[in-house]
Amino acid sequence: MERLSALGEMASTVAHETKNPLNSIRVAASYLKKNFQGEILSEFLSIIEEEVMRLNDITTNFLGFSKPAPLDIKEWAINDIVKSTVELIRQEATDRNIEVVLLMDENIFPVPCDYSRLRQALLNLFINAMDASNEGDAITVTTELVNEDVTISVRDTGTGIDQEEVENIFKPFYTTKTRGSGLGLAIVDRIMKEHEGSISVDSAVGTGTTFTLEIPMRNHAKV
Ligand SMILES: Nc1ncnc2c1ncn2[C@@H]1O[C@H](COP(=O)(O)OP(=O)(O)OP(=O)(O)O)[C@@H](O)[C@H]1O
Ligand SMILES: [Mg+2]
Repeated sequence: MERLSALGEMASTVAHETKNPLNSIRVAASYLKKNFQGEILSEFLSIIEEEVMRLNDITTNFLGFSKPAPLDIKEWAINDIVKSTVELIRQEATDRNIEVVLLMDENIFPVPCDYSRLRQALLNLFINAMDASNEGDAITVTTELVNEDVTISVRDTGTGIDQEEVENIFKPFYTTKTRGSGLGLAIVDRIMKEHEGSISVDSAVGTGTTFTLEIPMRNHAKV
């Protein structure tokens, strides 16, 4: 693992130390909401709760990025990981009238990988695909066995990415979103490298974007 710079160490300590006060704010807001009535009060308390959760997500992402935990490699059925991760976004997709299509290759053998890391990688791609999609769009998730590798692709029919922008999207903290941390794809890239795999992207503005993850079937992954 790379050593963190002194500044990186300090930043991750600060991030870590914000988690307890954030939790206190969340608990206090939810106590007030339960015990005091009032439309405006409840509206503002909900904002506090939501924003605290968002800050918590940013902090968790940042900490996971700066100090990744050791890998936990076991053999997993890739299609099961894909399906269970899709379930996490299914409701939001339905609410936003975005169709999620699964095309699973049933001939994939179990693959050595870290279940929760792979799930996190997929989730980051799904969230990006939903962010880029409009009502009536579709997200297609395809698994395939290609030679010695398993590929998982996530295709959306959303905004697409500018050619000049593509080279930046994997850089940590690069974001075009007002509410993004810019760590999503940097984390996916890191997770793929940990698996000795790769991530690639194919995109056209106005047509959509496909991200493809490639994971080796053989156990090259660092345990
Ligand atoms: N499917 C996609 N379609 C269009 N643009 C995308 C897509 N995925 C990523 N991008 C672009 O790449 C940028 C970086 O993505 P990344 O996931 O790293 O960060 P983010 O989504 O902005 O923030 P975070 O994931 O940390 O909340 C995005 O801000 C967006 O501009
Ligand atoms: Mg993202």
